[in-house]
Amino acid sequence: MDEGLMKTYARADEVFVDGRGAILHDSTGREYLDLLAGIAVSALGHAHPELVAAVRDQVGKVVHLSNLFRHPYTEQVATRLCALTDMAAAFFTNSGTEAIECALKLARKAMHVRGQPERTSFVAVEGGFHGRTLGAVSLTWNEKYRKPFQPLQKVTWVPPDDAAALERALLAERPAAFVLEPIQGEGGIRELSPVFLRAARDLCTKTGTLLVHDEVQSGCGRTGRFLAAQHHGVVPDVVTLAKPIAAGLPMGACLVTAALADTFQKGEHGSTFAGGPLVCRAALVFLDEVERGLLGNVAERGAEMRDGLLALQKDLPIVREVRGRGLMLGLRLRHSADLVQKALYQAGVLVNCTATDVLRIVPPFVITREQVQESLRRIAATLATFPAAAKGPQ
Ligand SMILES: Cc1ncc(COP(=O)(O)O)c(C=O)c1O
Repeated sequence: MDEGLMKTYARADEVFVDGRGAILHDSTGREYLDLLAGIAVSALGHAHPELVAAVRDQVGKVVHLSNLFRHPYTEQVATRLCALTDMAAAFFTNSGTEAIECALKLARKAMHVRGQPERTSFVAVEGGFHGRTLGAVSLTWNEKYRKPFQPLQKVTWVPPDDAAALERALLAERPAAFVLEPIQGEGGIRELSPVFLRAARDLCTKTGTLLVHDEVQSGCGRTGRFLAAQHHGVVPDVVTLAKPIAAGLPMGACLVTAALADTFQKGEHGSTFAGGPLVCRAALVFLDEVERGLLGNVAERGAEMRDGLLALQKDLPIVREVRGRGLMLGLRLRHSADLVQKALYQAGVLVNCTATDVLRIVPPFVITREQVQESLRRIAATLATFPAAAKGPQ
């Protein structure tokens, strides 16, 4: 199945041809419950009628213009995202990695503006994932992703929730920025504690370090609030978003507070494709749905899914822990998760495995109550076929 492609992914053999909401169909006509949403992306599910209509209409008008021209949709999305995130200005990108890359360059530039150009390094959190470009991969914890590409940008890591280690690192390194995910996605759906998030805010303010929240995975409503950090009232200096932002079309954003809005001058950063009329039209459909109350469904279905998973934990010894909030959930197993993931595909449930022993559950925001209950039934039946003490991480 990998013909003609570089070998960067282990691709499954199922070929999906269409879908509706949280349901996908493969080429044999088999139906699957999509609890993966293209890795936490397809917020409106598949074939959402308003999205289909808007994209069809926009393709017939204008797809691409470049950032050399103003377009009302680009400015509308920027304004609405800033209002939802307490930020003041946006730079659009085509992916989460590029949003992080923008944040890193912006932090370095901000230090130049301040007369502290020696502040070029970064501090990040162990277990974090921020993408694959040379800048973003520098901050990504998993050594396997970094090792073949060294030397990389200088980064110091601190353990999750260790405010004392963070203070030491900020004082010793005088970095340009501290970058964290409020809920680590690739790191196994691991929430940082509210106490640590608030301490990080205070320490960054005290040491003149920019605080970057990478909400590429946790943001845009996946946890039931537009940003995961909003559950705890923490406002960073920079927020990165991507995944669900244009309901499946490639788009990301780096958003900054008013104090940083003029950091980049003309020509200091750019993108040919980003923020064009087509992706912004899709983003407006997503934001309209958010305005109509979509995140209420995320909170309610997320609570039902979480309760159901907690019940499984009581009944099935293979389940070690239930993690996350809203529709960003993880089921930590006493078993390596990849075999379980394959068995779930067989049972018609799409999930994936992160941090080796965690099943990641990140369905479309439009998933229904019945689909949540059916997913739980299939997950329970599949897990029951696995012995609790099989080989794997303990
Ligand atoms: C927290 C976080 N940051 C950055 C990225 C990179 O985003 P992308 O794959 O869109 O480049 C990801 C992707 O999984 C992510 O989860």
